[in-house]
Formats: sequence, structure tokens, C-alpha cells
Amino acid sequence: MNFENILVQKKDSLAQITINRPKKLNALNKTTINELNIAFEALEDDEDVRVIILTGSGDKAFVAGADISEFSHFSVEEGGGLARLGHEILFDYVENLATPVIAAVNGFALGGGLELAMSCHFRIASDNAKMGLPEVSLGVIPGYGGTQRLPQLVGKGKAMEMIMTAGMISAEEAKDAGLVNHVTSQDELLPLAEKIASKIMRNSSVAISAAIRAINAGFKDGVNGFDLEIEEFGECFGTDDFKEGTSAFLGKRKPNF
Ligand code: COA
Repeated sequence: MNFENILVQKKDSLAQITINRPKKLNALNKTTINELNIAFEALEDDEDVRVIILTGSGDKAFVAGADISEFSHFSVEEGGGLARLGHEILFDYVENLATPVIAAVNGFALGGGLELAMSCHFRIASDNAKMGLPEVSLGVIPGYGGTQRLPQLVGKGKAMEMIMTAGMISAEEAKDAGLVNHVTSQDELLPLAEKIASKIMRNSSVAISAAIRAINAGFKDGVNGFDLEIEEFGECFGTDDFKEGTSAFLGKRKPNF
């Protein structure tokens, strides 16, 4: 896959997408958002791919936000349209992928950058990372899910403070707040993401997809997460992976999913 602003690599069952506009601190312009949509869609459809790592190029930024130069002149309608389309093709889209996506936050994750990291299934960060939602300093609010996903991850009060102050928190503070799961050195960030990915890949990708749907259901309006869990649990019993997983356990061998 050849793109202008992103790089896509595949190594066995592991895929990596790198947002690659380092001179603009990997800011999300329209082209980048479209390319990310195409890449995620292709990797989701690729049956060989079992985990996707998302990171930014360079040692300074994961993504420093939506590209401010592209929307500074927008009207009310255009602003609303920008957010709606972004939710649809990237932020909600990534959250609802059946393939696990790990954000490896390698520097600034601000505004749309933090919102993108929060759309991923979970996050790890390098110790130089800085995270925040600075939109109110620009006279706007987070529009790619930040007002919803930040409180889900860190709690309402902490999210209110972060959004109102437009401030940044360090990687360690983000870990303490539950925003990222692990913090490591810059050099160790991708190796750690790969190590976690390899643990995920030992398990049933069919069951993992069902778990993603069930977990996400608890955060959706009008959907009962417990009901969906029961449904997905039942569906697992009809899968080859369930037969393989249980017979491997009972046969005292490793499963071959
Ligand atoms: N949109 C568009 N361009 C951006 C950008 C964004 N969100 N973030 C950074 N850039 C560009 C800068 O304009 C600059 O471009 P230039 O070299 O052509 O002037 C380049 O990336 C480097 O950024 P710079 O500001 O010079 O780096 P810095 O180290 O001094 O500061 C930040 C780093 C992250 C603190 C600063 O870039 C910043 O505040 N960015 C905006 C963050 C933001 O508000 N995001 C939310 C958007 S909704």
C-alpha cells in the first residue's frame, strides 16, 4: 500500500501504521484521515493480520492534533461536517474494528491525536509523551470523541480539568490516570507494543473480536452490554476456535488458533 502521509508495514500477523508527516508533527489533515481509513479497512479485511500498532514518525510527536490550517476558516456547517465525517471514517471506525489496535504514543498526542489514541483499543506511551486536549485554547471543543472517551478513561472530574485547562499531562501522569497502560523509553516503545501484540496473537482472534464488541457495547447508548455479552458468549460455542481452545486445554497441549 502506497500513501502520501502514512506508512503501512506487515510482519507476519502484525501490522504497523505510522503517521508520517513529521515536519507538521503528524497533524491529521484530510488526506491523512482518508489514508488512515483506507489502511485500517484493508488491514481489517486481511485475514492474516491479527494486531495493528498505530504510531507516529519521528521522536517528537504521535499526532499534534487535527491540522489547524485546514479548518481555521470553516463555517458552522463545515465544522459540524468535519467532526461527523471524522467520527464515521476514523475515530468510531477504529474503536469498532474487530482487529485489536494498540496506540504506541511516541511524543505529543494532542487534540485529534489524543482522540485517535483514545479510539484505539488501548495505549502505551514513551516517557517523553505529552497528552492533552487543547481545543478550548483555540476557541473550539474536542470534536473527534474527546469529550466522551476522555471521561470514560480517566473519569469525569479529571477530564473536565484537562479539557478546561487545555493543559498537557506527562506519560507517567497519563498512566496514573488510566489513560495509558504502560510507559517505557522511546527505544523500547515499539518492542513493548510488539511484545504485547505477540501475547494477544496467541489467543483466539474470533473470541477477541467478540470481546471487543462486548466491551464497547457497555459504552454505547441504547445497547445493554450484559445482554450483548451473553449473546457473544453463546456465539463463541459455535466457533472452531472454541472447539480448538477447549480441546487443547483438555488434551494438555497448546491451542493452534
Ligand atoms: N495543525 C497544523 N500544524 C501543526 C499542528 C497542528 N495541530 N501542530 C503542529 N503543527 C506544525 C506547526 O505549525 C509547525 O509548522 P511550520 O514548521 O510549518 O511552522 C510544525 O508543525 C512544528 O510545530 P511547532 O509548533 O513549531 O513545534 P513546537 O515544538 O514549537 O511545539 C506543539 C509543539 C505541539 C506544542 C505545538 O506545535 C502545538 O501547540 N501544536 C498545536 C496543538 C493543538 O492545539 N492541537 C489541537 C488541534 S485541534
